[in-house]
Amino acid sequence: MFSDILCADILYYCAAAAILGLFAHSIPFSWHFRLFRPLVFLKIRLLLFKAELLLYPKDKRSEIEQMWLESLYPLGVEPFDREVVYKTWATLDDCDFRLHISNSSYAKNLDACRLKSAVASLPGFIRAGGWIGLGGLHFLFLSEIPLFARIEQRVRFASWDNKWMYVIVRVVTLPTAAQKKKGERFAKEQTVREDSPSSIHGPSILELPQRFRPDAVEPDGAIVHCIAISDMVMKIGRVTVPPALAFACEGFSKPSPDPSAPYSATKPPPHWKHVQAIWKSGGAKAMRDFLSGGWKSVPEKEKWWDDALSGPVESKRLDNLKMVRGIRAGMEGFKHSS
Ligand SMILES: *[C@@H]1O[C@H](CO)[C@@H](O)[C@H](O)[C@H]1NC(C)=O
Repeated sequence: MFSDILCADILYYCAAAAILGLFAHSIPFSWHFRLFRPLVFLKIRLLLFKAELLLYPKDKRSEIEQMWLESLYPLGVEPFDREVVYKTWATLDDCDFRLHISNSSYAKNLDACRLKSAVASLPGFIRAGGWIGLGGLHFLFLSEIPLFARIEQRVRFASWDNKWMYVIVRVVTLPTAAQKKKGERFAKEQTVREDSPSSIHGPSILELPQRFRPDAVEPDGAIVHCIAISDMVMKIGRVTVPPALAFACEGFSKPSPDPSAPYSATKPPPHWKHVQAIWKSGGAKAMRDFLSGGWKSVPEKEKWWDDALSGPVESKRLDNLKMVRGIRAGMEGFKHSS
């Protein structure tokens, strides 16, 4: 009798858990939880670190804290090399009646990955009290993602100008074992059929049979299902911060002129001393003042942030800008026409 009741109870809880799991992305506060998780983690890490600091002598603490904070920065990283990955999966509430992710649910799921990448790539800007606004969002849907698929949202900087920062997110799934096997078998058949020397190469995902052949593939074989471009503005209060300035203040940089000695946390790029000087002169307040207009009083010849992101970074920025700017300009064309 008792065991019957227990059994019923267990069944009941399992069913409830399964339903909550299936609708994970629509549980109350789940969006907020996913969104703010990286910020909360960062705060918790900082608190733990501060507790640890108490073990050190007083006069050393601020120096050690500064070193810890500096370890958060992308020192010497080229902006276009920075990729932040947000992992999630296709829950039932994200899917339409054919059990594929509904194309309209992508926008909601991008919020969390954009904030995660902002915390990872722009910690100094956030410390200085900056926030990032979303001014436009454009999608290209390439193929469908089935229910329960494991998804990676891969975030990168696409380009920027004096006002806009364009962020590109590729929503990908990793090929399943069955897809890989089919691809390999198909590639083998192809190689046997045509015996030209050019066909002697390893099987790649691009050689999948038509039904499994994705539209776009990442270098690691991940299948791209959706490409999203976000137009974002970096703000301090109501003032717009030029993205290049903010990036340089995080330690992003062009590559080192000496390839055998790349920039890193221990060998920061030359402009980093200017950033450190600002933080030292008055902490977050000083950085806030600098980003929100103080930079304008730096004489033209001493604008170190321009040099920090010149060379190959600048040419890639211009190339990419041609592509992303077109999207925004096209949409803006409809603002005043009917
Ligand atoms: C969503 O986009 C994919 C890829 O273009 C397409 O195959 C699918 O039919 C779209 N879904 C809906 C419901 O329009």
